[in-house]
Amino acid sequence: MLSYQHLYHAGNLADVHKHALLAWVLDYMANKDKPFSYLETHAGRGLYRLDSLEARRTGEAAAGILALERSFAPDHPYIRAIDATRAAHGSQCYPGSPLIAAHLLRMNDRITLAELHPQEHAALIQVMRNRARVEKRDGFALMQALCPPEPRRGVLMIDPSYEVKSDYQTLPKFVSTIHRKWNVGVILLWYPILNAAPHQAMVAQLLKDHPDALVLEARFPPIRDGHRMVGTGLLAINAPWGMAEQGTLVTALMGSDARHSG
Ligand SMILES: C[S@@+](CC[C@H](N)C(=O)[O-])C[C@H]1O[C@@H](n2cnc3c(N)ncnc32)[C@H](O)[C@@H]1O
Repeated sequence: MLSYQHLYHAGNLADVHKHALLAWVLDYMANKDKPFSYLETHAGRGLYRLDSLEARRTGEAAAGILALERSFAPDHPYIRAIDATRAAHGSQCYPGSPLIAAHLLRMNDRITLAELHPQEHAALIQVMRNRARVEKRDGFALMQALCPPEPRRGVLMIDPSYEVKSDYQTLPKFVSTIHRKWNVGVILLWYPILNAAPHQAMVAQLLKDHPDALVLEARFPPIRDGHRMVGTGLLAINAPWGMAEQGTLVTALMGSDARHSG
């Protein structure tokens, strides 16, 4: 049974890096006339309250978006999505990736989301209403069946919690399968950087399979003593032009130690 719940972590430093870059990519795609598809394998609940018991218990947003939001330009697409979320849902609310997409995409762009956890799925349905196709299915199987999507221009976000440790081994094959079926799709894969660095072999395999992939990472101190996460990474295949520079900018705004390659 799945136990990971993103409401304990929403708005933390990893979310700032991932969501700021995702928002930038979606804004880039939406600046061209042609409609596009946004797909997500692990969508979460879409909307988070930063004053919830769960969020206050970890305090991760306080060190993340709440400390950093004024570092971004007010017209950065990430900040625009946060402002729109607060205007629609209240000042303590924070958008997950599906809601960021809903705010930045146009009505003729298509959103398809997978979320397996019954409670998270129910909350996501409420938040997205008729704006997205939302499926309570395994995101890997669903996206493998749906790719290439229609419209063919598009972005796939892969954002597992890595609760299933074999994800590190199986993700390169999944990414290759999607890329073979949908060679024009922008594929974004998030991963945590932990002390023991389990991501390293996975990223090495992905770069071997996709030498042009872009790897954007940011390092930060652990949020509390003994916490294993010391950074965050986003790997992009078919990265839009300018994404490497955006990665450098976002990590600089975070005051982090930026790394990128590709
Ligand atoms: C890291 S959270 C997603 C956060 C979200 N992408 C965001 O940035 O706002 C991962 C989510 O994946 C869900 N999940 C875990 N395994 C899944 C699977 N095989 N298919 C679909 N969803 C899954 C979990 O219930 C959890 O809500």
